[in-house]
Order: sequence, then structure tokens, then C-alpha cells
Amino acid sequence: MERRPSLVAMVVVAMLSLSSCCCCASSSAGGGQQLHPVILIPGSGGNQLEAKLTEEYSPSSLACRVWPLVRGRGGWFRLWFDPSVLVAPLTRCFAERMMLYYDIAADDYRNAPGVETRVSDFGSTSSLRYLDPNLKLLTGYMDALASTLEKAAGYEEGRDLFGAPYDFRYGLAAPGHPSQAGSAYLERLRLLVESACAANGGKPAILLAHSLGGLYALQLLARSPAPWRAAHVKRLVTLSAPWGGSVQEMLTFASGNTLGVPFVDASIIRDEQRSSESNLWLLPTPKVFGNTTLVVSEFHNRSYSAKNVTQFLRDIGFEGGVEPYRARIRPLGEALPEPGVPVTCLVGTGVDTVESLVFGKEGFEAGPVKVAYGDGDGTVNLASLVGPIKAWADSPAQVLEVVELPGVSHSGILKDKSALQQIVRIVDAINLNTTGSNYLRSF
Ligand SMILES: *[C@@H]1O[C@H](CO)[C@@H](O)[C@H](O)[C@H]1NC(C)=O
Ligand SMILES: *[C@@H]1O[C@H](CO)[C@@H](O)[C@H](O)[C@H]1NC(C)=O
Ligand SMILES: *[C@@H]1O[C@H](CO)[C@@H](O)[C@H](O)[C@H]1NC(C)=O
Ligand SMILES: *[C@@H]1O[C@H](CO)[C@@H](O)[C@H](O)[C@H]1NC(C)=O
Repeated sequence: MERRPSLVAMVVVAMLSLSSCCCCASSSAGGGQQLHPVILIPGSGGNQLEAKLTEEYSPSSLACRVWPLVRGRGGWFRLWFDPSVLVAPLTRCFAERMMLYYDIAADDYRNAPGVETRVSDFGSTSSLRYLDPNLKLLTGYMDALASTLEKAAGYEEGRDLFGAPYDFRYGLAAPGHPSQAGSAYLERLRLLVESACAANGGKPAILLAHSLGGLYALQLLARSPAPWRAAHVKRLVTLSAPWGGSVQEMLTFASGNTLGVPFVDASIIRDEQRSSESNLWLLPTPKVFGNTTLVVSEFHNRSYSAKNVTQFLRDIGFEGGVEPYRARIRPLGEALPEPGVPVTCLVGTGVDTVESLVFGKEGFEAGPVKVAYGDGDGTVNLASLVGPIKAWADSPAQVLEVVELPGVSHSGILKDKSALQQIVRIVDAINLNTTGSNYLRSF
């Protein structure tokens, strides 16, 4: 609770640093006028991912050899999401296909041998509206958001509304390290932004990014020259961006996170989750969490802050993650450059969020014996959600708005009525060129 007043203070700072203000446009957004195109950038696990198996693939079981029985043209099938992951012998097939490998010689991540992956329909929102088109009700992801933009803000799929799905298992690396998959995505995203602008009378785009998508979007901006940013990006709008990672991610690495789904073997899922480069990116950063003890291991008689993540990775038995984390990933979290375009950060607050964990004498495998909760969006800690905001607000050149959504959870921000209303107001305001006028007053 201590942090709450400081968030409000930051918001006040943010308001003061708004460059110009408050000229009320007389036209109304949508009404036949050209809108700023919106590009939706999903978070981790937030779009469908397809796979195909080649001769190099060596299945761990007969089930994995034959599953899935029905495959599409060229042998492609939906790897994520498919409910078969919940069925015991098939969980293992899923995990061995999702697994990434760090190639030390190449200093880069690779798919499992014999597994090719792709996203379908890049540029369209189709693969991020639902994670499984056959289970729309259960696996809706950005559909509510996209539909709201269509119905309430005048957007139209393919005209001025686009989606940028990606292979979310991969991350990006600090300068000097190759990152083939992640860099290829940034390049695709850049071209999509350019073509979206060109198709809309040259109007710069609004990047609307959820969770991990916000980290990718920031890197796209940081790696683009200022004139490109000014010409192509009107505003970055982040939803629940985990700027400094989350403590919950340490639980994922230690014991596996089945997201509350019963019957799933956590240890199988844990190994797959550990292998994901983007999961390393979501570990708590020293910049945001400092010296605070986040995890205690009674077995090792040690406590770990965000500065001890390498030791933590060793102690949980994941030595393979230490070097890529240290060299490639940690520097990304330490430098959170100014976006260099106006930014609106929407953050959910007031939802119990894992703040510290105690693992007992049984070790990490057995799961935590004590969990303490603090403020955040249920997944990401408040300190992380507002991580770089003070620094950005202090910069005279950086236009910044922060919108707090009390009681809105990490993924609820894509569905809750109140959150969707705020997003529409923000997008409308950008299209009317009156950003920052009224909605900040709710603080
Ligand atoms: C963190 O700990 C180091 C020494 O372990 C100390 O030098 C530093 O001042 C501490 N930082 C904070 C923010 O407490
Ligand atoms: C645990 O570490 C503390 C110091 O960090 C030490 O005083 C204590 O004896 C250790 N306990 C065990 C059981 O090793
Ligand atoms: C954690 O990091 C701090 C500061 O770098 C260091 O003093 C401490 O010994 C580390 N603890 C462990 C368990 O590695
Ligand atoms: C928005 O308003 C500012 C000043 O109020 C103006 O300089 C700018 O050109 C406007 N942008 C658009 C896209 O209309």
C-alpha cells in the first residue's frame, strides 16, 4: 500500500509533462474520417502458433509420433493453443515441441530439432482473437478488444486494424548478441507499421501492446531512428506491460506454472517454460526490484533478490539458463530507454500479486511453503508496471500518460468493460488529437 501515493504522484508528474494540451477538436472520431491505424501486439501466449514436424523430429513416444492425427496442408497443425496439452501423454508431446534450445556456439535460441514453427496470417488479428478457433468461448484473447475497437471506435479489420502475432517463446537480446527470431519479428512489425500508415493516408499508427508485447514494442522504437518513429508511430499504448518482470516468474522457473489448470504435470511444463527465452526476459530486474528479498530457499539457506537471479537459476537446477540470462537478457531489463513517441501506460492495480516466496527444506521442486502477496495486477507487481514511468516522466521530451485501472487484472485489461471503455476513450482522443484532456482526471 505504501507505493500507492507515489503512483499518484507520478501521474501528477506525468500530467504536468504533457507537452501541449486540451484543444478540443470539434469533429467526432470515426465518422467517415481517416483514423490512425491500430496495430495489436499480443503478450506471451497471446496468439496461435503453428508447427510442423520434419524427419529430424524424434518423438519421445508413439503418441507423439502420431499426434495430431489430422494435420493441414504441408503438415502444419496448431501447436498453441490446443486442448490436447491437458491430456497426460500428450502434454509431453506439446512440451517437447514447444521447447527451445540455446545454441552456445551460435549464441542464439533454436527450435527443437525437427520442429518448424510459424504464425499464420501475420497482419491480421485472426490468430490473436482466439487461441483456439474451435473453443472461442474458452480461449478468447484479444477478441473483445478488437471487437470493441470495431464497434465503438470505427475500426475495420484489414483497413485500419491490424494484428502482429509472433513466436512468443523467443525474446530479444542485448546489443552484440544475435537474436534471429526476435529480430525477424521486429522487422516484420516495422514493415506492418509502414504499410498500415501508407494505407491510411500516411497517418502514423497507434501501437496497442499487451504485456510482453509492450517490451517488444519498446525495443522496436528504441532500435528505430527518431525520424522513423515520428513519421510512423503516433502513440504507444501499453496494457499491463511488465517493465521490470514479475516475481511470479520466479515461481514459474522454480516449480512450473500450470496457470491453475488441473491434471497438468507441472514438472513437464516447467522444463518447457524454463526453455523459453521470453520467460527469462520476464524475470524480476534489479532496476525495479533492487535488493528486496523475493525468494527464500530454506534448503539452500539462501535468499535471493533480483540481483541474485543467476544464483537462483543455478540453485533451481537450471544452469543452462545462467549464461543466456546474464549476457543476453539481463541488460535489456536494465536499460529501459525512452520510447521517443508519446506513451500511454494502462496499469491494473489492487489485485493480489505474488511478492515473495519461501521454499522449504524439500527444495524448489516441491513448490513454495509460503507466498506473500502485494499490489499489482495479479501477475505483474505494481513496482514493475510503473517501473520506468518516473524516469520517463522526468524527461521533458517524453510525453507520458498513466491510467490506473483499479481491480483490473493482467488479462482482464483485455476484457473488462471498464478497461475497454478506457481504451476506446484513449484511442478516440488520439484520433481527435485531444489526448490527455479528460480521462486523467479520474485520479
Ligand atoms: C543493495 O546492496 C548493496 C550491497 O549489497 C548496497 O551497496 C546498495 O546500496 C544496496 N542498494 C539499495 C537500494 O539498498
Ligand atoms: C544459514 O546461513 C546463516 C548465515 O547466512 C548462518 O548463520 C546459519 O548457520 C546457516 N544455517 C545453516 C543450517 O546452514
Ligand atoms: C545477492 O546479491 C547481493 C548483491 O550483489 C550479494 O551481496 C549476495 O551475496 C547475493 N546472494 C546470493 C544468495 O547470491
Ligand atoms: C495535433 O495537434 C497538434 C497541436 O495541437 C498539431 O501540431 C498536430 O499537427 C496535430 N496532429 C494531427 C495528426 O492532427
